[in-house]
Amino acid sequence: MSFILLLLFSFLTPSFSQPPPPKGILIDCGSQSKTQINNRTWLPDSNFISTGTPKTLTTSVLLPSLQTLRSFPFQVKKHCYNIPVYRNAKYLVRSTYFYGGINGPDHPSPPVFDQIVDGTLWSVVNTTVDYLNGNSSFYEGVFLAKGKFMSFCIGSNTYTDSDPFVSALEFLILGESLYNTTDFNNFAFGLVARNSFGYSGPSIRYPDDQFDRIWEPFGQSNSTKANTDNVSISGFWNLPPAKVFETHLGSDQLESLELRWPTPSLPSSKYYIALYFADNTAGSRVFNISVNGIHYYRDLNAIPSGVVVFASQWPLSGPTTITLTPSASSSLGPLINAGEIFNVLPLGGRTSTRDVIALERVKESLRNPPLDWSGDPCVPRHYSWTGITCSEGPRIRVVTLNLTSMELSGSLSPFVANLTALTNIWLGNNSLSGQIPSLSSLTMLETLHLEDNLFSGEIPSSLGNISSLKEVFLQNNNLTGQIPANLVGKPGLVVRTSGNNFLTPPAP
Ligand SMILES: *[C@@H]1O[C@H](CO)[C@@H](O)[C@H](O)[C@H]1NC(C)=O
Ligand SMILES: *[C@@H]1O[C@H](CO)[C@@H](O)[C@H](O)[C@H]1NC(C)=O
Ligand SMILES: *[C@@H]1O[C@H](CO)[C@@H](O)[C@H](O)[C@H]1NC(C)=O
Ligand SMILES: *[C@@H]1O[C@H](CO)[C@@H](O)[C@H](O)[C@H]1NC(C)=O
Ligand SMILES: *[C@@H]1O[C@H](CO)[C@@H](O)[C@H](O)[C@H]1NC(C)=O
Ligand SMILES: *[C@@H]1O[C@H](CO)[C@@H](O)[C@H](O)[C@H]1NC(C)=O
Ligand SMILES: *[C@@H]1O[C@H](CO)[C@@H](O)[C@H](O)[C@H]1NC(C)=O
Ligand SMILES: *[C@@H]1O[C@H](CO)[C@@H](O)[C@H](O)[C@H]1NC(C)=O
Ligand SMILES: *[C@@H]1O[C@H](CO)[C@@H](O)[C@H](O)[C@H]1NC(C)=O
Ligand SMILES: *[C@@H]1O[C@H](CO)[C@@H](O)[C@H](O)[C@H]1NC(C)=O
Ligand SMILES: *[C@@H]1O[C@H](CO)[C@@H](O)[C@H](O)[C@H]1NC(C)=O
Ligand SMILES: *[C@@H]1O[C@H](CO)[C@@H](O)[C@H](O)[C@H]1NC(C)=O
Repeated sequence: MSFILLLLFSFLTPSFSQPPPPKGILIDCGSQSKTQINNRTWLPDSNFISTGTPKTLTTSVLLPSLQTLRSFPFQVKKHCYNIPVYRNAKYLVRSTYFYGGINGPDHPSPPVFDQIVDGTLWSVVNTTVDYLNGNSSFYEGVFLAKGKFMSFCIGSNTYTDSDPFVSALEFLILGESLYNTTDFNNFAFGLVARNSFGYSGPSIRYPDDQFDRIWEPFGQSNSTKANTDNVSISGFWNLPPAKVFETHLGSDQLESLELRWPTPSLPSSKYYIALYFADNTAGSRVFNISVNGIHYYRDLNAIPSGVVVFASQWPLSGPTTITLTPSASSSLGPLINAGEIFNVLPLGGRTSTRDVIALERVKESLRNPPLDWSGDPCVPRHYSWTGITCSEGPRIRVVTLNLTSMELSGSLSPFVANLTALTNIWLGNNSLSGQIPSLSSLTMLETLHLEDNLFSGEIPSSLGNISSLKEVFLQNNNLTGQIPANLVGKPGLVVRTSGNNFLTPPAP
């Protein structure tokens, strides 16, 4: 169910050149122009999203990137950013929220809503407590880029009672070796906690952490003296910043150390846990590690060069206690320098790329497509696009397109014929115009409802070649020419064409 690995680090001689900033994209949501913060460029968000409203907080904020935000009408199911990424790169995705009372005095508390990456529900965003304390909130996840774009969406859930928003978004490329025992083709990470133990300064991040991961202080230490050499870690696996090894939590006595960590009570799930240790005190420091009383690692030797112990899928639920118990052979008490814990999220899948491309073209040809038509069309399932239903199973295909009575105008793109798993097309009672495209590639199509629109031109004769068809409703349009003979008198096929003044019956 879970496997544990122990790794030794290599501490290399320090290099004093600052690492280059992490590669990626920083987005200052709601901003109208580029800004430079600490020599890094934040882009305005308008190139990455077409819905929502940019807003500026009138109160002063902690960080310049939080001064503006993008706000979304909560009645619309989801709103997505589309971010250009490097395919197959592993990204740290960080979303930051600072409400600032933007929804007015009727809504003193921030709204609660969902955040979604590609087809995966990442987490609920509840910034209530942080906001009460005057703090912003950030969420971090690790996601593999499966295509050239990654979508980040804000979704309204049943608790959302005012307009959701987002203040800042970061997409940073992580080194290949980071967390590499996890298969990111099937899983993603949602950060629960990343702490530097016994440390009380400001959060450790870039340039100490070359990937700009945020290591927050946790637990005042009784002895905060640096206990490692003047060292830096390079080249191995999770690449924790050397600075987290300058402090620790530990007991000077030969007694157990109990940590209530991470602080929040956890929902029942599988977690990735990495614990980091290093010590160069003379004497031996050997201890057992248990999590909630369950044996986790035996006789860990905290050596000067450092060790990390990690579990890839450890089940946890409720409060968590980590206990370090000195072994009989140990001459010193246990200590711990740093820890990371992530919720392991099974990926929600992706709609077949062919269907996504076809639907994008269908969207482009509609003058007023539904507002939630962004991000993945099918998944997460309860966040599928309005009017779209999809197949179950590993290959996710679009099976129904139903935009009946949506007051749509524009035309029906010929690319609809590329949605080859479609069984129903219902576009009745709109103001769609132009020609009916050839649909002969839709070999599963059973119902075609285009009634009460403004379609013109001839009925494509290829319709008669779709053997699965049961209903063709074309009444009350402006179709012309002859009704194709192969549509008439077929058993099991209902064809309606009344109310097309220029349409003539098929030649006898
Ligand atoms: C920003 O970059 C310039 C030149 O590259 C450098 O001189 C300056 O120290 C940098 N500032 C910060 C805050 O890193
Ligand atoms: C949001 O968090 C607050 C404080 O923890 C909690 O009281 C509230 O129930 C949460 N809201 C939702 C919808 O989960
Ligand atoms: C959040 O607010 C509390 C209370 O004002 C403060 O003690 C704490 O340092 C803040 N946390 C962060 C991360 O800014
Ligand atoms: C993880 O990265 C390390 C360092 O590059 C490498 O030695 C190891 O084989 C990788 N493990 C996996 C499972 O890819
Ligand atoms: C760390 O090494 C650098 C360069 O060798 C030196 O200048 C610095 O004083 C050292 N710091 C400590 C705490 O030993
Ligand atoms: C720090 O010292 C206090 C008393 O001096 C003790 O109660 C506490 O357990 C110590 N904390 C750790 C982490 O050793
Ligand atoms: C450490 O763990 C091993 C294996 O569970 C156990 O046999 C041993 O007694 C433990 N040592 C201590 C000091 O708890
Ligand atoms: C399409 O939507 C309409 C109105 O919402 C509904 O009456 C009809 O049953 C739907 N058709 C299909 C095939 O789902
Ligand atoms: C047609 O659509 C309009 C606008 O959505 C709606 O008000 C009307 O009831 C619909 N008519 C029928 C017959 O469904
Ligand atoms: C459908 O997809 C194919 C490639 O799969 C593409 O060549 C074609 O242009 C697409 N569009 C239409 C309308 O068939
Ligand atoms: C329909 O099918 C027939 C026989 O398979 C074929 O000859 C004809 O070209 C097809 N028509 C269209 C418009 O695809
Ligand atoms: C219907 O088609 C006829 C003939 O093509 C055209 O003259 C007329 O303007 C069209 N009416 C509408 C409402 O589009």
